[in-house]
Amino acid sequence: MRMDTVVGHTPLDDLPDGFTGKPIDRVDGPLKVQGKVAYAAEHGGVGNVAYAFPVLATIAPGRILRIDDTAARHAPGVIDVLTAKNAPKQDTSSDDAIPQLVGDKVRHYGQPVALVIARSYEQARHAASLVRPEYDATPGRFDLAAGKAGARKPEDLSFAKADTEKGDFDDAYASAPHQLDVVYTTPFQFHAAMEPHATVAAWNEDRLTVETSNQMPTPGRKALAATFGVAPEKVRLLSAYIGGGFGSKLDVQPDAVLAALAARATGLRVKLALTRQQLFHVVGHRTNTIQRVRLGTDAQGRILAEAHEAWSGNEPGNDEFEPTVLGTRSRYAGDNRLNTHRQVDLDLPPAISMRAPGEAVGLLALEGAMDELAVQLDIDPIELRIRNEPAVDPELGVPFSSRQVVECMREGARRFGWDKRIAQPRQVRDGRWYIGIGMSSAVRGNMLQASKANVRLDPSGRLTARMAMTDIGTGSYTVFTQVAADLLGLPMGRVTILLGDSDFPETPGSGGSFGAASAGSGLYDACMQLRSKLCRSAGIDPAQARFEDGHVTDGRKRVSYVALAGEDGVTADGAIEPGSNSTNYNQNSYGAFFAEVGVDMDTGEIRLRRMLGVFAAGRILNAKTARSQALGGMIFGVGSALSEEMVLDPRYGAFVNHDLAEYHVPVNADIGPMEAVFLPELDDKANPLKIKGLGEVGISGAGASIANAVYNACGVRIRDYPLTLDKVL
Ligand code: MOS
Repeated sequence: MRMDTVVGHTPLDDLPDGFTGKPIDRVDGPLKVQGKVAYAAEHGGVGNVAYAFPVLATIAPGRILRIDDTAARHAPGVIDVLTAKNAPKQDTSSDDAIPQLVGDKVRHYGQPVALVIARSYEQARHAASLVRPEYDATPGRFDLAAGKAGARKPEDLSFAKADTEKGDFDDAYASAPHQLDVVYTTPFQFHAAMEPHATVAAWNEDRLTVETSNQMPTPGRKALAATFGVAPEKVRLLSAYIGGGFGSKLDVQPDAVLAALAARATGLRVKLALTRQQLFHVVGHRTNTIQRVRLGTDAQGRILAEAHEAWSGNEPGNDEFEPTVLGTRSRYAGDNRLNTHRQVDLDLPPAISMRAPGEAVGLLALEGAMDELAVQLDIDPIELRIRNEPAVDPELGVPFSSRQVVECMREGARRFGWDKRIAQPRQVRDGRWYIGIGMSSAVRGNMLQASKANVRLDPSGRLTARMAMTDIGTGSYTVFTQVAADLLGLPMGRVTILLGDSDFPETPGSGGSFGAASAGSGLYDACMQLRSKLCRSAGIDPAQARFEDGHVTDGRKRVSYVALAGEDGVTADGAIEPGSNSTNYNQNSYGAFFAEVGVDMDTGEIRLRRMLGVFAAGRILNAKTARSQALGGMIFGVGSALSEEMVLDPRYGAFVNHDLAEYHVPVNADIGPMEAVFLPELDDKANPLKIKGLGEVGISGAGASIANAVYNACGVRIRDYPLTLDKVL
């Protein structure tokens, strides 16, 4: 099925007694809480595998002069020590390849330079501490602000142009009756998924199996195959249960390649589990950003000219930029627009996608600037946003597939008690706390990617679906079970969803909030194909058919799936492909955030007192897992507003706070009452499920509501995230 159409009525549209949409508990929940599923590092158990432990570079950038591994080789239990000199061969020519331990170049602090393989984890780790690399270090570029002058325009990303322009910004801005020109900055951020990266790898002749923690098995298999110069079919990537990824597990990471190298060198099955501290330099992070926002308006706050210019960093020559201004491109109306990205070469670990790449940090600036504008013009922030609501995509002129951002703001205002807000700061006190409330809005691009699925009705009438998709903790197993059960008229207990195996039909995996829409639509198509097959073999007119209680019926005739499945079962394949709807419509999920904070008038300490998110993200497949996604995103937003920041040691290009004691993510005590609600919506342009992405809309702009609330509380405008107490005073 190709998305060139408006989706008409589907079987999911009238299911009063169906599972889809209901707040159903995770189907994998009981297994997880009983410890009955294996996460990456648990495969192979203890003692049945060899263990690898990497040695990481302690300089950047520079060259490896020599590596003395004599002591390590003589340490107890050591099987081998790999460096660039003796590591098994990799194909460094392919763009898909991700080779490790190649050459003498050190690009960044924490780059793996050697790998110790031993009988036990402790022996490998101890021996790794005995490896003595010698380096020739050269001065590094670590400072985004310092590199700004020499920044370059990066290549466009597949989903985001580097620069867009419309009208004449400079002229319109210069002549605008009211002007706002502000610079916001956001720090290096880290995904900090609960489950650290780990891999168990084994070779059987020229076949590689990796049990790992990866969001996208299909591209992951391709990358490993390219790295080792084998056909993709020779690689099997298994990743059935994942303890969070947030982008850090989109691509195959060094743990998988290193484990595969160790397995190839030794002929053993090898386990490699990165330590929490190693992760911070090995698996990538979100770049820091510098963002200049200029808004030229008339006296009523209508935007005449809008510019959002962003600078981000990455490894030298790496054009992957944080698509910071993506959300800005269609958030507000205005005929004169300038939205640019500039890239700075930094000798740091790779800057990669992290939850809502772009919008997560871009809206911190845009939505802060809108609040500043509202203050300057003395217009209510929600009213200001409504005045600038575009009828169509303001840059491209195409219609929105669905857009309820105003409804989100209004519903949130009603629920949160926005009408009681006093616009003037320092008017509300609770003891020594200034109390303030603030809001912001969210936009996050909705994407659909090609995806396939296979379903099989077995002789007992049970349905099994297979997809090289993942459940990164979001609830994929559960929502796919609900959809398939509803489409085939089966109880959920008779549906099994199998994910996390690259041998299954290709999917884009979990990322970019496209997972449920893409894989779910492939699954939808497979289920619809199966329904057709069942009708044909039952001799029932598809137009009259109902699928219920494991039977297909037209009201008179009723044939059981068991009878139709026979001895061999029935299978069907399905596929979804993005089509012209992706360009003919601007597709986004939307939201609005409301936060109340207290600011200690003596210490500047900020406490979140309550927070609300209201979202419009198409059909909600599961009210419970969707709410959890939204709350998780908002909590991420609280972190980005108040505490999350990787601190750089400018001498080495090293992040000093490389553990969860020092990289401050919010904990339960930081959050308090928080709620997320969804507006009813069906997006018939997006995909056959009529859903839109919701993994990332929850973070997009969430932190700005807190910054705006801080201003409302104490009158201090902080444009340098996170808002730590030193910046309040
Ligand atoms: Mo997301 S940053 O595409 O996992």
